[in-house]
Amino acid sequence: MRKRLAAGNWKMNMTPSQAKAFVAEMAESMKDAKNEVLFCVPAIDILPAMEAAAGTNIQIGAENLYFEEKGAYTGEISPLMLMDAGVKYVIIGHSERREYFAETDDTVNKKVLCALAHGLTPIMCCGESLKLREQGVTMDWVRMQVKIGMQGVTAEQAKGMVIAYEPIWAIGTGVVATTEQAEEVCKGIRELIAELYDAETADAIRILYGGSVNGKNCAELFAQENIDGGLVGGASLKPEFVQIANA
Ligand code: 13P
Repeated sequence: MRKRLAAGNWKMNMTPSQAKAFVAEMAESMKDAKNEVLFCVPAIDILPAMEAAAGTNIQIGAENLYFEEKGAYTGEISPLMLMDAGVKYVIIGHSERREYFAETDDTVNKKVLCALAHGLTPIMCCGESLKLREQGVTMDWVRMQVKIGMQGVTAEQAKGMVIAYEPIWAIGTGVVATTEQAEEVCKGIRELIAELYDAETADAIRILYGGSVNGKNCAELFAQENIDGGLVGGASLKPEFVQIANA
């Protein structure tokens, strides 16, 4: 039985004081949420958001990490820092990181292995551009991203991981993938996990859909057999996230 995960990705939004106030404001309305609830927030917001989330069902995660424990990597955040702050989940390989910060499937793989080695749970992102979808290679592309991203990950580790399928053309555009499109790729990812590992691992791993998820479309998406929740950008900055937490 996979528990659904409603995960927010704040991206580069919310100052530390706004983060604290928003989490505190959301805590009351989310206290009976059906799904596991998580906000992945900018590094500087992690501690104030954690403070506001203490004693609630809201979890605070990170949006990125670097694959070394410490050293001369100016501006980066290490797995030890995240663990010490009490973080469990970390987004890895978001398409914005790939597009603007030159992340590749190989760096994603290094980050995934590093997160797992430190007891963090990766939310590993994948997804195709509009051009790739139109060229008919969506599943080939996503399979390649997942296959490289998970090189060296054991079945035991894979079972606890989260994969987020986020078609790039649906991110921040208001154009949500159809339920059929989202389910088709999430199902394909689960089949790939069965190929790479086994049926038990495929059954345990959680696969999220992301891309213009909102309070209105979340119920239908989350009702799909292979969609175990959502990775949510814009709507995770608004009170409507409560609907997603309950979908
Ligand atoms: P939106 O929900 O704003 O489309 O963003 C999706 C996303 O990129 C979540 O990681």
